[in-house]
Amino acid sequence: MEYKELFKMADQVKENAYVPFSKFQVGAALLTKDGQVYTGVNVENSSYGGTICAERTAFVKAISEGKRQFSAIAIASSGGEALPCGICRQFMYEFCPELDVITGKDENSLRVQPLNVLLPEGFRLEKE
Ligand code: THU
Repeated sequence: MEYKELFKMADQVKENAYVPFSKFQVGAALLTKDGQVYTGVNVENSSYGGTICAERTAFVKAISEGKRQFSAIAIASSGGEALPCGICRQFMYEFCPELDVITGKDENSLRVQPLNVLLPEGFRLEKE
């Protein structure tokens, strides 16, 4: 799948974001190595710390469906280019340090950066 298409999916799904507090809609579209796409949005909570970002929503959906291998994630927001927060960077690093992270204000101005550039020397426990 083309990264432009993946970004468009993120941009469309952001309309489903539950954002009564920040009003900042974020959509993510996560591409698995076997070519499937899992989308996600940010879901806020009255107890602010309970908020989950769009990127982690997409990952949690994919992982709970048995997916473990990912090639790219596109992120779109209602407020221009949005880069993943620190928690999301670490969360995604667990599964795929080489993930392509696609961001931009629209599909004609995309940036693609590997996750391990956005998060150098991320933390990982040794895998058994
Ligand atoms: N947010 C995301 O969903 N992804 C990001 O990468 C940055 C922040 C959300 C969390 C919160 O609902 C809103 O954007 C404002 O921080």
